[in-house]
Amino acid sequence: MKPFMRIEHLSKSFGGVKAVNDLSLSLFPNRINAIIGPNGAGKTTLFNLITGFIKPDSGKIFFDDVELTHLPIHAISRMGIKRTLQIKSVFNSMTVYENLWITLSAQQGNLNPFKPIARYPDIQKRVEEVIEQLDLGRFQNTPAGALSYGDVALLEIGMAIITKPKMILFDEPVCGMSPAETEKVVSKITSLAAQTHIVIIEHDMDVVFKMADEIAVLAFGSKLASGTPQEIGSNQQVKEVYFGTDEVDA
Ligand SMILES: Nc1ncnc2c1ncn2[C@@H]1O[C@H](COP(=O)(O)OP(=O)(O)OP(=O)(O)O)[C@@H](O)[C@H]1O
Ligand SMILES: [Mg+2]
Repeated sequence: MKPFMRIEHLSKSFGGVKAVNDLSLSLFPNRINAIIGPNGAGKTTLFNLITGFIKPDSGKIFFDDVELTHLPIHAISRMGIKRTLQIKSVFNSMTVYENLWITLSAQQGNLNPFKPIARYPDIQKRVEEVIEQLDLGRFQNTPAGALSYGDVALLEIGMAIITKPKMILFDEPVCGMSPAETEKVVSKITSLAAQTHIVIIEHDMDVVFKMADEIAVLAFGSKLASGTPQEIGSNQQVKEVYFGTDEVDA
């Protein structure tokens, strides 16, 4: 099987800190890819490099065999690569509907404040589809700032999928959530895997082992191991470096 994403010898330092250090990694389609590793392992930096927020010192990144290493952010976004941030970022004073609408309109370059929403039937239709897919119907006229934390996460997922991206990068999507919220968000993300490539950074091991098909472990900016949850759970090196000496329940 061909990988949809190939990372070759990627490096990025901040001052003396090698955040990503000669990292090579391939990600394969039709599965949920998880990236785990201790705090400061370079996970978010990797997402910043893939999306073009920052540029590597060396190495290459390919998506669907197209090299994107030196492309600007907007060109990478236009290739169908989307991400959610570790810190939630929705427009609090706008409703769920408006947040989705403006995300799609902005992508299409359609932001004309003098033209009523009803003049954009295609956008309306897609917003309604996403609201239904994420079960946000009863909140569509609620300002995002009034939603529960879990529902903000669903809205963010909606904002990520509304443009029908080819790949979505999730950075700790269930961080700080209650078990019930976590379950809802995990099941929505899992259901997206049928329509788009999913890559997820996650600290909660229960979540990772439950949802991931393939796990890559980063430590000090490099790949320590990769494999199925079972393989990672029984990898001695991973246990020692990442989990301490504790047993991991795969
Ligand atoms: N913009 C930056 N400027 C300076 N140092 C940075 C910057 N971004 C990241 N770093 C450093 O690079 C290293 C990797 O950080 P990164 O945020 O990628 O880790 P992470 O694996 O996402 O950690 P966490 O699990 O805590 O989110 C850390 O030592 C961090 O302090
Ligand atoms: Mg991070």
